[in-house]
Amino acid sequence: MAKEKMASQTEVTPEGALVDVFGRPLRDLRISITDRCNFRCVYCMPKEVFGADHQFLERAEILTFEEIERLARLFAARGVTKVRITGGELLVRKDVEKLIGKLSSIGGLDIALTTNGALLAKKAGSLKDAGQNRVTVSLDSLDDRVFRAMNDVDFPVERVLKGIEAARKAGLSPVKINMVVKRGVNDGSVIPMARRFRAEGTIVRFIEYMDVGTTNGWRMADVVPAAEILEALHREMPLEAVAASYRGEVAGRYRYLGGGEVGVIASVTQPFCGDCTRARISAEGKLYTCLFSARGHDLRALLRSGAGDDELLRSIDAVWGARGDRYSELRASATPGSEKVEMSYIGG
Ligand code: GTP
Ligand code: 5AD
Ligand code: SF4
Ligand code: SF4
Repeated sequence: MAKEKMASQTEVTPEGALVDVFGRPLRDLRISITDRCNFRCVYCMPKEVFGADHQFLERAEILTFEEIERLARLFAARGVTKVRITGGELLVRKDVEKLIGKLSSIGGLDIALTTNGALLAKKAGSLKDAGQNRVTVSLDSLDDRVFRAMNDVDFPVERVLKGIEAARKAGLSPVKINMVVKRGVNDGSVIPMARRFRAEGTIVRFIEYMDVGTTNGWRMADVVPAAEILEALHREMPLEAVAASYRGEVAGRYRYLGGGEVGVIASVTQPFCGDCTRARISAEGKLYTCLFSARGHDLRALLRSGAGDDELLRSIDAVWGARGDRYSELRASATPGSEKVEMSYIGG
């Protein structure tokens, strides 16, 4: 972790980037556009908590596309170069293509999406037409029985695979796959996933199961460490490490000696807070500076009170300038049961 700066006032680097208490610049913005999802993944939205009577946000509570575009422009002015749109499941929000069009018009932004793929076969073409380039699909198993049990809405894996195929055909590139690995649940799916997607030339990233939120009953014993995943892969298909493509890259990258790439995201066993440049905005417009924050800063109130760009920028500067988050590095000393925002509310 970088040395803590002396004063808490906002600082900028010589290049003009806004930096936090540890000197980390603001580079990535992840925007959740809905807290709803058509899946109930057991590690994210367990049915017991997100059942029929769960109160999701009302339409009027969530940011409009115009509000999102305005915030994205302001964050871009503060050094953000990558915007990832997340949910819940972003494709359940009506007319999401219109938002892609608006964000594309800002220019200079790498726009990424994280979807569960259920609606991708229907939406891939219109997303591409709206200016979307790439897409990341969450897929936890190729085994239909395991996949249906994990999404917990009995959704067949075949339909997600059709969505991935449609994304490729529509020219969304690259298509990346994220798989959360939970011990005893889908760890048997690691090798089949790696083999299949390697053959298709698609990068899979295996993610350590994290203690996000307070509802998924996380236990360290359920985490399969990235080192263990890499050993298993290496035994089947020899690997070598590849240098990160940019500072602060979340995934550790590896190349199969026979060709192809794979990644691991070791956020539990090898935290990467030291280089964390990510800010997150919830669907209702709260700004969070860590995936594990208890509270966000209400940008919607400012937006809807008629604040000018200067006032909004001052607010963003103040929040990022005061940021000292490094939850994953401190996990071992975190208070059990402490308040944390849910992943489905803030996006991954
Ligand atoms: P690319 O730009 O495609 O390389 O994406 P990325 O490296 O930003 O990864 P992605 O957004 O697909 O994130 C994959 C997963 O990594 C998320 O779903 C989270 O589980 C985890 N992750 C991403 N960012 C963070 C973070 O800031 N902290 C922690 N603890 N985990 C993160
Ligand atoms: N640990 C790790 N990753 C998670 N995701 C959701 N919940 C967790 C968790 N507890 C991932 C999803 C998806 C992205 C949005 O976040 O699988 O890839
Ligand atoms: Fe699953 Fe993603 Fe939906 Fe969470 S938001 S339930 S991880 S599909
Ligand atoms: Fe960033 Fe918080 Fe994740 Fe650390 S735990 S990498 S500070 S989001």
